[in-house]
Amino acid sequence: MKNIFESLRESHDKQRRLLSALTDTHGDSDKREGLFAAVKAELVHHENAEERHFYVPLMEYDMTQEKARHSVAEHHEIDELIEEMEATDFSSPGWLNSAKKLEHLVTHHLEEEEQEVFQLAGRVLSDSEKTRLAGDYDQMMEDQADGSP
Ligand SMILES: [Fe+2]
Ligand SMILES: [Fe+2]
Repeated sequence: MKNIFESLRESHDKQRRLLSALTDTHGDSDKREGLFAAVKAELVHHENAEERHFYVPLMEYDMTQEKARHSVAEHHEIDELIEEMEATDFSSPGWLNSAKKLEHLVTHHLEEEEQEVFQLAGRVLSDSEKTRLAGDYDQMMEDQADGSP
């Protein structure tokens, strides 16, 4: 059976692939537009499902509460940068810089989650919770993907 860490890592790897492809795009192209839409959907869906099925449960424990709050604050930073990019022309020279900034911000966030949060979460969550959360997380990711335009 899959555990929550495996589910989250799958999403993280997808985000890394998409962001690396996005920073390889040029100017106002269909490729840039398509990849940006994919990055946005993936990041937002992941934040929603990860907050509900990972960070909310982790806020119940003293050992993980602070890390959980910190990660959720970083999600907001990521959202703000995405909003900024939405308001910028794809053809503007600043756009690629913002995309690189986003890649940097997200990559750092994922590393912190995988290296620090997963360690602590592994100690507070029971094996059955880890499995149940994986199911709930995967289900919510599927539902959001089905509902997205
Ligand atoms: Fe996160
Ligand atoms: Fe994450």
